[in-house]
Amino acid sequence: MFDISSIQSNDLESFYTGINDFVDGLFYEERDALANMSNLASLLYHTLSDVNWVGYYLFKSGELVLGPFQGKPACIRISIGKGVCGTAAMKRETLRIPDVHQFEGHIACDGDTNAELVIPMIKKGVLLGVLDLDSTLKDRFSEEDQKALEYIVDKLLEASEFDKTI
Ligand code: SME
Repeated sequence: MFDISSIQSNDLESFYTGINDFVDGLFYEERDALANMSNLASLLYHTLSDVNWVGYYLFKSGELVLGPFQGKPACIRISIGKGVCGTAAMKRETLRIPDVHQFEGHIACDGDTNAELVIPMIKKGVLLGVLDLDSTLKDRFSEEDQKALEYIVDKLLEASEFDKTI
């Protein structure tokens, strides 16, 4: 059993130290990408404050398709270059959007979302998809959040075998 109650939230540094230790435990001797993506989405959804959706869009046959997530049911397919997710995938760079209503072409899956952080998942030069985090709070994600979450995505990519995924 995994117990997330031990993760400290006093300050961002100790919070992400706790998250990283936890992630190491979740991924220990487990290479299954679907299992690791699912556990990571759950961990982040249940520990990050003011987050209303955490999940993946996976790159399949030239478009993004909904993957494992926590939160309300969401849009299923997103074209590359569309919305925050499709733009991050196209540019192959993280997009940290303080107010999604100011982002041209934002796809409103959940009307409660105000801020978004989308991190592309690229392994050995191959785009696998994106990790998408949504918040009800404007400007929820800081640069520190971004760096820490990019580091965690790197861990996910290193720990997991995506070749066989779904
Ligand atoms: N808002 C995203 C779509 C995905 S949902 O937020 C889960 C976008 O603009 O790409």
